[in-house]
Amino acid sequence: MPATDLETIVSLAKRRGFVFPAAEIYGGFANTYDYGPLGVELKRNIREAWWRAMVRDRDDVVGIDAALITNPQVWVASGHVGGFTDTLVECKVCHQRWRLDHLQEGLLGEVKRDAAGDLLCPDDGGELMEPRKFNTMFKTNVGIVEDETSVAYLPPETAQGIFINFENVVNSTRKKLPFGIAQTRVSFRNEITPGKFIFRTLEFEQMEMEFFCKPGTHTEWYPYWVQERLRWYTETLGIDSSRLRLREHTKEELSHYSAGTTDVEYNFPWGWGELEGIASRTDFDLKAHGAASGHPLTYFDEEANEHIVPFVVEPAAGLTRTLAVTLIEAYTEELDEKGDKRVVLKFRPNIAPIKVAILPLSKNEKLRPLAKKVHEIVRPLWSTQYDETQSIGRRYRRQDEIGTPYCVTVDFDSLEDDAVTIRERDSQEQVRIPIAGLVDALRERLPGC
Ligand code: GAP
Repeated sequence: MPATDLETIVSLAKRRGFVFPAAEIYGGFANTYDYGPLGVELKRNIREAWWRAMVRDRDDVVGIDAALITNPQVWVASGHVGGFTDTLVECKVCHQRWRLDHLQEGLLGEVKRDAAGDLLCPDDGGELMEPRKFNTMFKTNVGIVEDETSVAYLPPETAQGIFINFENVVNSTRKKLPFGIAQTRVSFRNEITPGKFIFRTLEFEQMEMEFFCKPGTHTEWYPYWVQERLRWYTETLGIDSSRLRLREHTKEELSHYSAGTTDVEYNFPWGWGELEGIASRTDFDLKAHGAASGHPLTYFDEEANEHIVPFVVEPAAGLTRTLAVTLIEAYTEELDEKGDKRVVLKFRPNIAPIKVAILPLSKNEKLRPLAKKVHEIVRPLWSTQYDETQSIGRRYRRQDEIGTPYCVTVDFDSLEDDAVTIRERDSQEQVRIPIAGLVDALRERLPGC
């Protein structure tokens, strides 16, 4: 069973060094979090698993890493300056601002209305002002003059960096349609709704791929990518399929660029929420940048002997949101043989922050040289922790709670028989292995890690 309340995850995440509320010593900062020593490893592992599935293991996708701050015309052409807006309402009493759609959907708690049925402030029941549009892109200024001529934007998605490099990638790689360009990167949105931990934050990481194909074939690639992406969550991350579903956007919900979007949703402790959107973006972006820049972004179709504008199918996933899901999914409470609670994060080994812990049975000086030697054998191959403090039982519990799949214990017999014990996290089974065969034994148990 995964965690059923968010507080448990938020508290474990902080206690064990996965995720910290940002700037806590200054009273925090809304919708902003820092990633601790284990969070940063978990994030890297999820990103790596995505990159492997989407780029390395495929012949038809390449990666890029585009600049975050770029020519502001990019965001005008993409439609974000004009249209990347939320509709806000402000309370006349407390002056807090709320996203109208989130109020209507009840995401901010109980939906309060007056006798006429008009929405009221969810906090103090105050009357609301007329709705106003508000652009969620962050602005900054480049150079020494702070005026409209120096405005630049922090990217609200990674996709545009891919579109504006379409021609560079085609020319430098000689890729033929259909092919994709992938990117993982931080994005920024001026989110005003309380974010539910790292589900919705001001700054977050995305993993996006733009798959370019011939017009007409997008109707096949769109369902293909929906299924591929759903499969990734179950087969690569081990998320239980009963807590995942696909949801197609209604016409009213579709983004300005989309002819069809399907969300992969996860059943969070507070209900279903978006994890990834797969959008059929048509030729909107390449055409828009071609027209705005005066530099057409086309592809020469050798079969048809003409220049065409490819269509695009885009799987856009949230890395930091996925990290929240892996914590919720992995969280397990069990009772041990003495009736004490054992908390285990049952991560798939591929995403576990620490793969192997090396634990001498005690702090006894005689054990340390061999334990250190074993650590040096394992450390170049996997992420490891060496821990000799407290009792062995407590150290096992600590590793269980951070999701380490294997502990290797060096005891007094090891000094005689040159063997160690491997303990598996979920079953707690222990097997004795000669040190000479330790790497092979771990390799067998940690495939693809
Ligand atoms: N390029 C398309 C695009 O950005 P999106 O549905 O707005 O589409 C894709 O974003 C994914 O990025 C979402 O499914 C979600 O996982 C993640 N995401 C979006 N806004 C976020 C936020 N404020 N905090 C955390 N993750 C966010």
